[in-house]
Amino acid sequence: MAAKTLEDIPGVGPAIAEKLREGGYTDLMVIAVASPKDLAETCEIGEKKAMDIIEGAKLCADIGGFETGDNILERRKAVTKLTTGSKAFNELLNGGLESQAIVEFFGEFGSCKTQVCFQLAVNATLPEEKGGLDSDVIIIDTENTFRPERIIQMANFLGVDPDYTLRRIHVARAFNSQHQILLVDKALELAQQKKIRLMIVDSLTSHFRAEYLGRGALAERQQILNRHMHDLLNFATLNNAVIAVTNQVAAKPDAFFGDPTRPIGGHIVGHTATFRLYLRKGKGGKRIARLIDSPNLPEGEAVFMVTEDGIKD
Ligand code: GTP
Ligand code: MG
Repeated sequence: MAAKTLEDIPGVGPAIAEKLREGGYTDLMVIAVASPKDLAETCEIGEKKAMDIIEGAKLCADIGGFETGDNILERRKAVTKLTTGSKAFNELLNGGLESQAIVEFFGEFGSCKTQVCFQLAVNATLPEEKGGLDSDVIIIDTENTFRPERIIQMANFLGVDPDYTLRRIHVARAFNSQHQILLVDKALELAQQKKIRLMIVDSLTSHFRAEYLGRGALAERQQILNRHMHDLLNFATLNNAVIAVTNQVAAKPDAFFGDPTRPIGGHIVGHTATFRLYLRKGKGGKRIARLIDSPNLPEGEAVFMVTEDGIKD
């Protein structure tokens, strides 16, 4: 059966489909879960019409269903672990970063979130017996901090061909939050051509934080961020991939989460991320990772180093 398009919704012809697409409602599922008011406003159609379209989309969209525990267990058997490069850090995570999960690294500026991401990108290209995923990598870079020079240094230290490593790392700059969201769709397309078992979003929250200012915008920001997190989780499940995201600790008190040591993105990011790691600086170039939240591992800390060669014990 061919995939259904917007024109398959009863009462949606080319003109309305065009309006929907222009409004960012490009997918049946997105329409099925939209609010009539939002859809009507964004696409400049009547609210009654919007309700009909949403009802129609619910019938056409593949909403998914329930899955039995044995199926889930079968899928969990495919979970593998990606090495961080540090023994202590791996132990904290019971072997490394799990696939089919989102791992959030949060911390202040300079706490080495980006350095950890570079190391993970290089490691993911390694064969599985070396702790890698033998796969290509996608990096969504929102702060323009990707540095191929660092990848080369890390690859050289591991004795792997730096040019080959760089060719396996696919980087996209996200110019704003909407672009960031669309890049996840692009990533799904790329994953159909290439094996991609690591996707990095560095930083997950910076655009959202800059664009949705103040208390009034908070609900909308959290809603969009929530949808984005679920898109990422979907990528993780479909591709048996690790999703690594970074999140800065708010230096100034956030409009809502007043505590300055709390990661921004608040409850939404916290509840959707499968593992949360708090990174902070220690003495003499040391870095400390603290596991905050995990469905199956105890809380704890690991000390590691960031050097020219990458992440080490
Ligand atoms: P924000 O994105 O600003 O929130 O920070 P971040 O947590 O991403 O920090 P990032 O990973 O950029 O860490 C920067 C730190 O990494 C620097 O302060 C250095 O301590 C360390 N670092 C970066 N490159 C090198 C290097 O080549 N050698 C060594 N020894 N340390 C490095
Ligand atoms: Mg950074």
